[in-house]
Amino acid sequence: MGMPMLLHIRDVLKPDQIAECRRMIDRAEWVDGRRTANFAEFSDVKNNQEVSQTDPAALQMGTMILAALSNNPLFVQRALPIKICPPLFNRYTGGENYATHTDSGLLQQRPPNLPLRSDLSATLFLTAPADYDGGELVIEDNFGRHSIKLPAGDMIVYPASSLHHVEPVTRGARVSSFFWIQSAIRSDAQRMLLTELQSSIDHMRHAVPGNPGIMELMGVYSNLLRLWSET
Ligand code: NI
Repeated sequence: MGMPMLLHIRDVLKPDQIAECRRMIDRAEWVDGRRTANFAEFSDVKNNQEVSQTDPAALQMGTMILAALSNNPLFVQRALPIKICPPLFNRYTGGENYATHTDSGLLQQRPPNLPLRSDLSATLFLTAPADYDGGELVIEDNFGRHSIKLPAGDMIVYPASSLHHVEPVTRGARVSSFFWIQSAIRSDAQRMLLTELQSSIDHMRHAVPGNPGIMELMGVYSNLLRLWSET
């Protein structure tokens, strides 16, 4: 089953959308990433730059990303999103890094929006891996340590509760979008079980199409979702 807690989604953005993002990002207003750190403690570990949240480019690119995600069946089925915060954008260059941390559990949003519980963190890579050295997103979970560096347009979704860091970027620049997701399924373990059940159903639909057991399992899936979800 690969890395159970991590969800790799390929080609969230098409090449022309990535190019458009990069054009807007290069013209955007950048601020010190420490300014948006949630706690003073973070100023010691966070060492990068972010597009100003009030820059209209951030809103425009964010809208494009959220539209792409809402049409991505893998993301919708696996993350089971209820709320997604407006996507943010960061850049690491010249040795910048983000030391080991856990993401804030509750994110304050601009009024009139209510706070969002960050069940899942997402990083959408906007730079080709060949264009920079370092910059791996390293995620530690119960299954070990995962070093992530994906093609431009690909996204990794992981439990916001996990310890993670970004390695120093020693050549070029690493540009990404990042954001948090409140899932209908708060528990990582329950979300993982639903994923495994869905995967078993998919296997059966190919192996024994029309078998009545498939409909029964689909009913179990729906009923677990009803039992465990919060909206
Ligand atoms: Ni983080």
